[in-house]
Amino acid sequence: MADLSVNLFHNMLKNPVMNASGTLGYGVEIEPLWKVETMGAYVTKGLSLMPHQGNPTPRVWEVRWGMINSIGLQNIGVEAFFRDYMPFFEQKNMPVIVNFFGFTEDEYIQCAKNIVPHRLIIGLEMNLSCPNIKAGGISFGKEPEAVRRLIDRVKSSTNIPVIAKLTPEVDNIADIAQAAYEGGADGLTLINTLPGACIDTHERAFKIRGGMSGPSLKPVAIKAIYECRKRVPIPIIGAGGIMDYEDCLSFFMAGATAIQVGTATFVDPFAIPKIIQDLGDFLDKNGWDSVIDLIGAACT
Ligand SMILES: Cc1cc2nc3c(=O)[nH]c(=O)nc-3n(C[C@H](O)[C@H](O)[C@H](O)COP(=O)(O)O)c2cc1C
Repeated sequence: MADLSVNLFHNMLKNPVMNASGTLGYGVEIEPLWKVETMGAYVTKGLSLMPHQGNPTPRVWEVRWGMINSIGLQNIGVEAFFRDYMPFFEQKNMPVIVNFFGFTEDEYIQCAKNIVPHRLIIGLEMNLSCPNIKAGGISFGKEPEAVRRLIDRVKSSTNIPVIAKLTPEVDNIADIAQAAYEGGADGLTLINTLPGACIDTHERAFKIRGGMSGPSLKPVAIKAIYECRKRVPIPIIGAGGIMDYEDCLSFFMAGATAIQVGTATFVDPFAIPKIIQDLGDFLDKNGWDSVIDLIGAACT
């Protein structure tokens, strides 16, 4: 059997497949269908210092090559997550990546401080697509200097490895990756959703404005991974439109060490376990010993 394990921040994950933040609830919800420990690691829904209600409906809308979501970062808050859900992952001995955000720099810092180091928490994934209310709602992740400063402050507040999750809505994502690296980021997640909108032509009104995800995002993600890998020497977790194991192969070959699956789970709730099974079968059939041999295989 081919070896699917990968090393991320000095932790051996049994496979390189995770859920994308916000697309698998708090982890327990999928259990009637498949065991969350099937994955290499679980990524939390975006957590904030205080609970957050999110947006009114409609919150998700299907488009031709994906979907648009406007969940509005609804979550129970970081404290409630640790109280109510961390015991579930402890029981399973399951590695967890905590995705978090703030509406101000200080909220990011305070949130990171409130995440107490734990043997199962292998990384803090900073959602940099969040609007900065002090800068008129422009997301933190668009300006290299803001990214460098924010990550530097978060790094001084925690001993847990910090993963910068970048927005693709920038001129040059490698410049942002470089700033994240200079700020001290231990890894990158590429990419978050791209802003989009959908019109209801009968109503002559907007149906939804939000983040577009799904297959249309895949080429954007592949390019981002390729360009950032050339620029910075930290591991990259790939996300954006992965629907099956063949999509995963492109992400690994572009340079990702691990991958996250989001929208595919809305199409088929078994997408993640299928991808893990199919990836192993592919490696076996093609005589690859380890998934590590695929990382960056298309890059010269
Ligand atoms: C319903 C939904 C909720 C999401 N919530 C978050 C979130 O809380 N934090 C975050 O960083 N990304 C969030 N994302 C973005 C995903 O984690 C992922 O980066 C993006 O959807 C691209 O992957 P995909 O095409 O496989 O869905 C969300 C995406 C969706 C579809």
